[in-house]
Amino acid sequence: MSKKYAELTLDGVTHSYPIIQSTQGENAIDISTLLRDTGHITLDRGYVNTGSCTSAITYLDGKEGILNYRGYAIDDLAENCSFVEVAYLLLHDDLPNLEQLNDFRELMSTYALIHEDMIHFFDHFPPNASPMSILSTMVNSLHNFYPEMSTHPEPFESFDNVTTRLLAKVRTIAAFSYKKSLGHPLIYPRYDLNYCENFLNMMFDKPTKPYTILPEVVSALNKLLILHADHEQNCSTSTVRLVGSAGVNLYASIAAGINALWGPLHGGAAQAVVEMLEGIYADDMDFEKYIRKAKDSNDGFRLTGFGHRVYKTFDPRATIIKKACDETLAALNVDDPLLDIAKELEDRVRSDDYFVSRNLYPNVDFYSGIIYRAMGIPTDMFTVMFALGRLPGWIAHWREMNSDEERRIGRPRQLYIGYPAKKYIPLDER
Ligand code: ACO
Repeated sequence: MSKKYAELTLDGVTHSYPIIQSTQGENAIDISTLLRDTGHITLDRGYVNTGSCTSAITYLDGKEGILNYRGYAIDDLAENCSFVEVAYLLLHDDLPNLEQLNDFRELMSTYALIHEDMIHFFDHFPPNASPMSILSTMVNSLHNFYPEMSTHPEPFESFDNVTTRLLAKVRTIAAFSYKKSLGHPLIYPRYDLNYCENFLNMMFDKPTKPYTILPEVVSALNKLLILHADHEQNCSTSTVRLVGSAGVNLYASIAAGINALWGPLHGGAAQAVVEMLEGIYADDMDFEKYIRKAKDSNDGFRLTGFGHRVYKTFDPRATIIKKACDETLAALNVDDPLLDIAKELEDRVRSDDYFVSRNLYPNVDFYSGIIYRAMGIPTDMFTVMFALGRLPGWIAHWREMNSDEERRIGRPRQLYIGYPAKKYIPLDER
């Protein structure tokens, strides 16, 4: 196929830029020589239209509501796979066979403990410390305890050690931080439990009241983690890649991603949704007030859980989560008024021209918090749950970035709008 070019005419001179073909979706105009050719940079606030890398991990089509990991549709994966299988898929090139999956699981069990010295870290956070700050601190510290494997992604076998270590330890850290926040004894990971069962058991088992692991809860948790496992160049993943592009080790790059995820416009949204729904409940279901505020351009308030940078028809993850939410609450016999409020709000938003004309539909975080509540996960841990799910995606992107022979340190340009050059004035003359 002959190569195509895009032409740009500036001050009467025409410059050509090669079109890079994707395997699916938008192609790209490679403008990397634009500055050298024309003395101009491109300005694209929020990187709405800027590709920062090539990637073979996740494909999404915001118009059609398609999300595929390594070519597999998200609905198929959420319906049929375990989270560990999907993690393997993202980190490798394809789904594992039985032997590969068993080996991966075995490694996960091997690495599930954290160094006992790290447990003392928990004691030095104030009682109301944010679980996200604890998580990023602990993940950053992993480099000090396990430095030998965190910088070089190859060969594959040793990379499996690094990734399973991180996946297993982050799960343990998340559950331990919850137990510590309650002042309860820690529950250690068990060899006989799978990834999700282990997490639930570490969170909720007590010496005084053994926890019963319900298959419905395990299934819902699996789905939620799978649905969050990757989403191409979102804010936190781009952060992991950008930080990692400076040669930073895996743990520190992931810690940066955790911090990026924390924001209410990103992974913090599930918590913000539940708080907003609680607000509507406490406000005598005054939906109109919240909708009015969200539509008022002078009011900073937004309906959290609606809208997405990329999805402009529907978020395929939200459709699966809404169904899972109904199923889980029914299975657990939980009657949560927040679910009715969420549905009513969605109905109102979907028939309001302001939201329809701006393509604002429920996103992945609109119903996920209600499921987490039903499981007993505290609201301030919802973003930690998101981080658990997103972890394989972050690791896969860090590895892909490091394996890219054309990688360069991430370094955007800026359009300077400050003072022109000024002459220094000595202090006594100012
Ligand atoms: N409520 C009310 N109005 C909204 C909302 C919302 N949730 N989201 C966007 N809008 C409006 C904006 O005010 C803007 O209106 P205007 O054209 O009249 O100025 C228009 O829709 C476009 O909004 P942008 O901010 O330009 O859209 P952007 O793509 O930059 O932002 C984002 C996407 C951050 C997700 C946004 O929709 C939002 O803030 N949503 C609420 C927070 C949220 O749910 N975040 C989770 C996203 S999913 C995830 O990260 C896992």
